[in-house]
Amino acid sequence: MRVLRWLLIGRTDGLRARARRRLRQVAHPGPRGPVAHATPAHPAGGVTNGALDAGRVPAGFEAVLRQRELQEGALREVFVGGRSVALALVDGQVYAMDGTCPHAGGPLAEGLLDGTTLSCPMHGWSFDVVTGECHVNPEDRIRILAVRVVDDVVCVEA
Ligand code: FES
Repeated sequence: MRVLRWLLIGRTDGLRARARRRLRQVAHPGPRGPVAHATPAHPAGGVTNGALDAGRVPAGFEAVLRQRELQEGALREVFVGGRSVALALVDGQVYAMDGTCPHAGGPLAEGLLDGTTLSCPMHGWSFDVVTGECHVNPEDRIRILAVRVVDDVVCVEA
């Protein structure tokens, strides 16, 4: 059974998982990419990505996108330190978590969000985006990452 699962789905850090992530980046380079590529400088001369890079990003964090790019109740994938991270906006609060399901490597940012419950698109395991707890298997959880929003720019713990 494990071999069959491995053949069909692959490992979280395996070649197929990395290829899938890379293909998603290539297929959706704009809205899924980091803020430096996705968001042009503020047209009215306000905050720019460069200004944030010049010391406004908190130490240990990485700027990923502007909060206004997130939709309430929706998920969005970004990459922090080359790792997939799923962002969720719930009641105006941004939550960040590992973007890869601990079950078999499913892309959590492509799952469904219902309140603070995120369901993996592959086999339906569900997780709490606030605590990281898994509702299906209490021994598994997703890592929750700290988030700081600076002048509408979402910064995620690196
Ligand atoms: S990969 Fe199986 S539930 Fe996420």
